[in-house]
Amino acid sequence: MAPARLLLVLPLALLLCSHFAVSLARPRLRLEPSNIWLPSERAAGDEAAAEEEDGGLGTRWAVLIAGSSGYYNYRHQADVCHAYQIMKKGGLKDENIIVFMYDDIAHNQENPRPGVIINHPQGGDVYAGVPKDYTGDEVNVNNLFAVLLGNKTAVSGGSGKVLDSGPNDHIFVFYSDHGGPGVLGMPTYPYLYGDDLVDVLKKKHAAGTYKSLVFYLEACESGSIFEGLLPNDINIYATTASNAEESSWGTYCPGEYPSPPPEYDTCLGDLYSVAWMEDSDVHNLRTESLKQQYNLVKERTSVENTYYSGSHVMQYGSLGLNAHHLFLYIGSNPTNDNATFVEDNSLPLMTKSVNQRDADLVYFWQKYRKLSESSPAKNEARKQLLEMMAHRSHIDNSVELIGSLLFGSEDGPRVIKAVRATGEPLVDDWSCLKSMVRAFEAQCGSLAQYGMKHMRSFANICNTGISAEAMAKVAAQACTNIPSNPWSSIHKGFSA
Ligand SMILES: *[C@@H]1O[C@H](CO)[C@@H](O)[C@H](O)[C@H]1NC(C)=O
Ligand SMILES: *[C@@H]1O[C@H](CO)[C@@H](O)[C@H](O)[C@H]1NC(C)=O
Repeated sequence: MAPARLLLVLPLALLLCSHFAVSLARPRLRLEPSNIWLPSERAAGDEAAAEEEDGGLGTRWAVLIAGSSGYYNYRHQADVCHAYQIMKKGGLKDENIIVFMYDDIAHNQENPRPGVIINHPQGGDVYAGVPKDYTGDEVNVNNLFAVLLGNKTAVSGGSGKVLDSGPNDHIFVFYSDHGGPGVLGMPTYPYLYGDDLVDVLKKKHAAGTYKSLVFYLEACESGSIFEGLLPNDINIYATTASNAEESSWGTYCPGEYPSPPPEYDTCLGDLYSVAWMEDSDVHNLRTESLKQQYNLVKERTSVENTYYSGSHVMQYGSLGLNAHHLFLYIGSNPTNDNATFVEDNSLPLMTKSVNQRDADLVYFWQKYRKLSESSPAKNEARKQLLEMMAHRSHIDNSVELIGSLLFGSEDGPRVIKAVRATGEPLVDDWSCLKSMVRAFEAQCGSLAQYGMKHMRSFANICNTGISAEAMAKVAAQACTNIPSNPWSSIHKGFSA
């Protein structure tokens, strides 16, 4: 394809498959009704404070997971490094903080500041001191489950650090990555499925090895990981970047506002993640409750309730726990001891952000755009971009065709896109979902990061009672060969 033609085609394609939001920055000054305490809330807060002071406080633990790899996914590891700095300043000990990150960013040849990771356009280094507990291929589902369950013998590789927690301990888990309905990404295969994660949390509860656990989750469709699955009686409080059926958003992206320093071609953070972290950076967490933070984060992530380039932050599980102060889980930076939680501390508004799923496209596009016309690198960048776009359309078209083959061209799109009622899990039979994913990938190639968006289609195929054999048959009809580009290969294994 000639370069001139490509230039015309690409911006159009970007518009078609993304939801770039444009809204003008405007200064705001207003009261935050959510920060005014009702008497009943104050009582709950006092109870939590009493718990914090009665000596019943065991050890604080944190598990921080970046589920992606690749420089174009810079932001997830940046989020996790930043979270580590908050835990550390809050007073948690390294022996109680367990970090999963692929660790291919700081020393990546594309990193304009070698050895440094930032999570804000003007931010300092967040990489220094981060423990490398599980890196590279050690960032996998098996190790994560072993760590959560505190099972040292089940861990393979890594530092061997696990959540060796006891009945009085408080645990904080933060996960940042791509996802899709019912699924979270990993830099390795298989991906992490909602039912398996919740089963592990139930086992952890049954083992009696925590008092309460808080789970902050950033991913597309992250609500679907807990919706209809997480019980409300196992002392786990979860908040998610988005509801069960929408994207979450990258932020500090090139060409957006606020944008990263010009030498960065990649997003520096994620909207929900930076919202809770920039809030935690400056507040006295001894006096800020989980609920107060939830409300602030919800507001900022909604982008002034437009949801146009934002998402619905959700909460699941034992909601009563949100009366606890953050201090109980992540400590508090003594520097902020005099910071008071007042009405005017609403978080800065993000005026533009990029759909998680299109952030990699932005990266490859920026990279392509910046290179000089005749350089060999430009050809290489063009090839990468085209391969990525080809993968996307191959996956989209294949899933659509499978829907039509199974349910007819009229009903197909409706059936595979159907969304279940709020409160219901994505799928009744999760092993069916996984077998459908394998049947698809065996014929059509890997779903990969982008393809996770189609999990709902596979879930609906299960919910309508289609057999794995029928699925394999139509997948073979829909995909006569697996495209040879790296995004579509299955050499890395199945994502289920
Ligand atoms: C720990 O993991 C090992 C290996 O997977 C398993 O055999 C063992 O039963 C696990 N221990 C507990 C207490 O779950
Ligand atoms: C907080 O205020 C007290 C009293 O004014 C002062 O002694 C203390 O140094 C301050 N702490 C911080 C971290 O600024």
